[in-house]
Amino acid sequence: MKRLAILTSGGDAPGMNAAVRAVFNKARKYEIEVVGVNYGFLGLVCKNFVSLNPEFVHASIASGGTILHSARLPEFAEADVQLKALENLQEAKIDGLIVIGGDGSYQGALALAKLGFLSIGVPATIDNDIAGTEFTIGFDTAVNTVVSALDKIRDTATSHVRNFVIEVMGRDAGDLALWSGVAGGADYIVVPEKKLDMDDLTNKIQRSVDRGKKHCLIVLAEGVMPAAELGRKLKEVGIEHIREVELGHVPRGGAPTPFDRVLASKSGAAAVDLFMEGISGHCICIQNNKMLAIPIDVALNKSDKFTDLSLYPLNHSLSY
Ligand code: ADP
Ligand code: F6P
Repeated sequence: MKRLAILTSGGDAPGMNAAVRAVFNKARKYEIEVVGVNYGFLGLVCKNFVSLNPEFVHASIASGGTILHSARLPEFAEADVQLKALENLQEAKIDGLIVIGGDGSYQGALALAKLGFLSIGVPATIDNDIAGTEFTIGFDTAVNTVVSALDKIRDTATSHVRNFVIEVMGRDAGDLALWSGVAGGADYIVVPEKKLDMDDLTNKIQRSVDRGKKHCLIVLAEGVMPAAELGRKLKEVGIEHIREVELGHVPRGGAPTPFDRVLASKSGAAAVDLFMEGISGHCICIQNNKMLAIPIDVALNKSDKFTDLSLYPLNHSLSY
């Protein structure tokens, strides 16, 4: 009987559990034993292997977070730490590893693949910042959470006639800010992919105020600057009644949307198929609603990362 290990790593993302469930159940069809690894690469190095309880795994399709826990282990970039993990995998007679995570986690999977261990990546991060895939698991849920927050903030902004800067995660990518900004009817979106024109932003807010608009929502990606800093800059140029909100880790939690559950189910199942085919150093991606496998080093090429920047001028043309 083949043995397949699975771990979740880096920032958790809603839908990681649905991916674990898909791997577990698809593997059972092939009569593969699935071994859970707790706390990402840290668990590989510390031999934190667990047998998965089928009832628990099945129920987890609806839950956020990750039942396998996550961790950051920067030391996994070091060769001796990777060799320790390899030794532990071989000692446990494991034939392959599925890594569910973002681009950092992909680096770890690639390192093991380069050492000759069959490793496969499944994209899961609210940042949506992996090249080759249009969507990563967790992104849609995070967009929903941010939009729900924007709807609430608009209520209080309108009541008090205030302007809000709302900072959202995304690391160096503006996807979460762009999608939630458009869906939430933001007045302005600030992302790392587009140079911020402070005069344009200030004029936009001032025009809204002059027209008697009762609120102004500015969605800011964390990769540009913190909300407090942008709020301070706006106050310096005379914009009044500014409040700043940092949504922080809130969009990382919560039950995954059906979209994320479906994406996770397809991705997990496709990853098990890759394992059966013996294809290592590849990751799953979705393009035009089709599941594909591409080399991990291609997925790590940030210059090939697709961000729908048409959302930026669209939002500017629609906000009034
Ligand atoms: P994400 O996977 O969400 O991008 P991180 O960037 O924090 O999150 O990466 C998750 C983990 O992947 C790190 O804590 C580390 O264990 C591993 N990792 C990151 N970069 C590398 C690297 N260059 N080589 C090997 N492992 C890495
Ligand atoms: O990569 C996911 C992410 O949530 C980023 O958007 C954010 O910059 C980072 O992780 C936060 O990391 P931590 O959970 O360590 O604070």
